[in-house]
Amino acid sequence: MKKIIIANWKMNPTSQKEAEKLFSANSKIISTVKKNQIVICPPFVYLAKFKKYFHTFKKSNLFKASLGAQNLFYQENGPFTGEISGEMLYDLGVRYVILGHSERRLNGETNEEVNKKIKSALRAGLSPIICIGEKERDLNLNYLSYIKEQVENCLKNITKKDLIKIIIAYEPIWAIGKNAISEAKAEEFREIKVFIKKVLSDKFGFEAVSKIKIIYGGSVHPKNALNFLSEGEADGLLIGRDSIDLNKFKEIIKTIEQ
Ligand code: PGA
Repeated sequence: MKKIIIANWKMNPTSQKEAEKLFSANSKIISTVKKNQIVICPPFVYLAKFKKYFHTFKKSNLFKASLGAQNLFYQENGPFTGEISGEMLYDLGVRYVILGHSERRLNGETNEEVNKKIKSALRAGLSPIICIGEKERDLNLNYLSYIKEQVENCLKNITKKDLIKIIIAYEPIWAIGKNAISEAKAEEFREIKVFIKKVLSDKFGFEAVSKIKIIYGGSVHPKNALNFLSEGEADGLLIGRDSIDLNKFKEIIKTIEQ
């Protein structure tokens, strides 16, 4: 089955020149993708620059790639200094948006705000990639109630019809970034995927959740990427650091395309 690979560039790189260089090298890598779908999520300021490339990709039907953003504000327009709406992103050619990333939750973003952002993303025609995941695991399994609460609150009042457009990214905080405490195992992801599906089917019914994509993120690298997809049965990957390391990104794409 087709997997979705999301490249989260985070707040990198620092100049337009570097961003273009990274993007052009990335397009070469993406051009080799036949089976899967790639979503590149650069910082807001580079989106407009990349729009024209994605337009060409789409027209030539060459690349299975889309443009994504890393956040949005839940109002369409108005007196919201410094904010960017889903409608503005859609107009730029953006079709996906990462919401509720743990690095944003760390700065105070709540499930309620993520919920509002999901609704406005859907209204604007964007597919939300919702990040959830616990800080730490405990033997009493409290982390499962934490995940359940995140899923339920983020998806409050979302319709069954919209559910299909949503991607859930399980990103355990303890496995993210260069300060990760340890790496998650593929089987740990698989268990959580089953758990999330159960939470979702209790809320939306089994039929409605059968098609929802649940992907893995957190220290994905060339050596574990395939394992998360095969053994872990992840529907895709959300990649941070290794999506801006060209050699590693290339290697990841090569292994999953085989
Ligand atoms: P990482 O980041 O791959 O660098 O761990 C993943 C993420 O935060 O989305």
